This record gives sequence, structure tokens and C-alpha cells, in this order.
Amino acid sequence: MSKTLISTRSLRKSYGKRNSKFEALRGVTLNIHEGESVAIIGKSGSGKSTLMHLLALLDKPTRGEITLNGHPTAKLRARKLNTIRNKKFGFVFQSFFMNANDTVLNNVILPLKIAGVGHKERRRRAISALKTVDLDDKRNNKASDLSGGQKQRVCIARAIVNDPKVIFADEPTGNLDSTTGDKIINLLFKLNHEKGITLIIVTHDQDLANKCQRQISIKDGRIVSDSSADVEQDDDGDEEIREIVAESEEDDDDDATPDKFEGDNNIDGMLDQKHPVHHINIEDEEDL
Ligand SMILES: Nc1ncnc2c1ncn2[C@@H]1O[C@H](COP(=O)(O)OP(=O)(O)OP(=O)(O)O)[C@@H](O)[C@H]1O
Ligand SMILES: [Mg+2]
Repeated sequence: MSKTLISTRSLRKSYGKRNSKFEALRGVTLNIHEGESVAIIGKSGSGKSTLMHLLALLDKPTRGEITLNGHPTAKLRARKLNTIRNKKFGFVFQSFFMNANDTVLNNVILPLKIAGVGHKERRRRAISALKTVDLDDKRNNKASDLSGGQKQRVCIARAIVNDPKVIFADEPTGNLDSTTGDKIINLLFKLNHEKGITLIIVTHDQDLANKCQRQISIKDGRIVSDSSADVEQDDDGDEEIREIVAESEEDDDDDATPDKFEGDNNIDGMLDQKHPVHHINIEDEEDL
């Protein structure tokens, strides 16, 4: 079995206060291993997206711990979290919208720009990502001109352009017809098989869940079944993640991470408004 990438211990997440308090997660402990494909399944409102947002470090738990390559993440500063998300994670969400008035190419380039990749290199990598999703011919089209399935493929191109370790996909086929949905799914699994990218997919679609190596079923904020017998690992983990985290641990300049990441300066609609949005400060990222 491969190394542990993300671990959670007794994760709890509540929304609201006092009378309106709602416990969306009620103690979730799991380990995600490198290269796994994991489906998170369960009824509407069971806590799937909440769990995915915590795993992707887009939001913070009310209680409990999330470790990445064995390092606790609770005290990581916003800037480090942004770096990890930008360089190591890719996101494909159902209502993931793009900068509609910009070109397809520029939408895919954006994470590279944030990561401070040079002009020529980011163009080369974005075109290569667009070729992977078979949309290179649309690179100069406005994103708003594309069909739903094409938009979703652009989102996948944008999710893979930084060569992430993990792709988080929340209902990636929810808005697509079955043929287009199958294409998107095949693409995600191809990335998993060929590049070893870890896939974490929230879905209501049992056929899609069956394609994953592992299925985690959530009910009322708790794991009720997990098809994988979980084994604790010795792990060295991804070297660059270790460096980012270690650098942050040494850094005692404490501009504490906000409880949620909000603001206008997000990756242009990287997240649906419903979801927490995080700051991406291009200047900050460029000197990393
Ligand atoms: N920001 C929020 N404020 C208050 N309650 C919330 C918030 N976000 C989620 N919840 C509640 O937490 C519970 C879990 O929500 P979550 O979005 O994780 O469900 P889900 O399993 O992804 O459902 P679906 O399949 O419908 O997307 C729901 O009851 C939801 O109403
Ligand atoms: Mg959801």
C-alpha cells in the first residue's frame, strides 16, 4: 500500500451557533493514500462536500485534526495553504465556473500565473493540458462560448495544469449528459492511472463510485462504511509539501489563518459562491 497523504482524526464541523447550530461532521477519521481513487458517497446533506472542503484545506474543522504528509495543518498560515492548494491540489466542482469573458487558454493559465510560472512556460503547459482534454482547438474561444461538457473539460485542464498530487472532484458529472459524463470520468481515471494522481470524488452516481478503488459512505456526518481496510503507514510523503509545511513551522510570524477564506481575490470563480473562497495574492505567491 502506498504512503498516507491526507489523514483526519475525529473531524467535526458545525455550522451556525446556539439554536441554529448544525453538526455537519461528527467525528471523521480516515487516511487517504497516494494514488488512491476514493469515492465519497451518501445522501444529500450527509456531509460529503463539507468533508471534501476540509480535506482540500478550503475550510477548517471545528474540532479534530487534518495532517498532510504527516504534518498538522491547523496552524498553517493562509499563504502556505494557498501555496499547497495551488501547487498540489486540483479542483473540479459541479458548478465550478470560469472567468466567462476570458479565453479558454487564459482560464487554464491562471493557476500557473498565481504560482509564478514564466509566460512562455505557462502557455506551453496550458496548451498541453488543453490537449489532454481534447480542447486545444478551442483555446482562443471565450469560455462562455463552450458547452457544459467542454467547460467541465476546461476545469479539468485547469485542475491538472499544475501537475497536482490530488484532484478533488465534487459531483464532476452532475450537470452533464451520460456520454459527456463518461468522457470526463475516463479522463479523471486516466490521470489517476497514468500520472498516479490521487482522486477524491464526491458523487451520487453509484456507477462512478464503483469505478473507484475505495468507497467511503457518509451518513449524518459520520463514516458508516469504508471499503478499504485502513493500514497505518510509515510515510516520508511528497518532498515539496514537506518543505512548504516545514518552512511554515519555522516561521513564527503569526498572521493567523482566517477561519474561512473569503474575498474577491479568489481564483476567478474557482469556487461556487456557496463554497468558502480563499485569498490568492499573486504578489505573495510569486516570491515563493
Ligand atoms: N455554510 C453552511 N451553513 C449552515 N449549514 C451548512 C452550511 N454548509 C452546509 N451546511 C449543512 O451541512 C450539512 C452537510 O452539507 P454538505 O454540503 O456537506 O452536504 P452534501 O452531502 O454535500 O449534500 P449534497 O449531496 O446535497 O451536495 C447539510 O445539512 C447542510 O445544510
Ligand atoms: Mg455536496
